[in-house]
Amino acid sequence: MTGPELVERAEAAAANAYAPYSKYLVGASLLTADGRIFDGVNVENAAYPLGVCAEKSAIVAAATAGVRPGEIDAVGITASPCGGCRQWLHEWRVGRVWFRRADGTIADYAADELLPDTWDLPS
Ligand code: THU
Repeated sequence: MTGPELVERAEAAAANAYAPYSKYLVGASLLTADGRIFDGVNVENAAYPLGVCAEKSAIVAAATAGVRPGEIDAVGITASPCGGCRQWLHEWRVGRVWFRRADGTIADYAADELLPDTWDLPS
């Protein structure tokens, strides 16, 4: 599946977002190196900070199925990922990050281009 196709898949998945507070529906679709696809959506909560982003819920779905950092080739997202999600994409060493810009064009980055001078836990 190509990056733009992943973005389109994420746009379809976004219909299942639970975002009654912001009304902002987000979807994310991950492609693993072995060809599996995992979708995620944002899921909000009345205690607002407890909500989760679509990118995180997609990674959680993949992790639950046994996927580990370095095994995700690409992600398609309906919008530019927030700062916290960029840290998640970094930790999971996602290969390419594709997302729909506000102007309708599709962006394509390496995860680390989206988070220069990344922070990692000192070893
Ligand atoms: N959101 C995401 O799902 N991903 C992002 O990268 C940015 C923001 C969600 C969180 C919240 O449910 C809604 O968008 C509005 O911030």
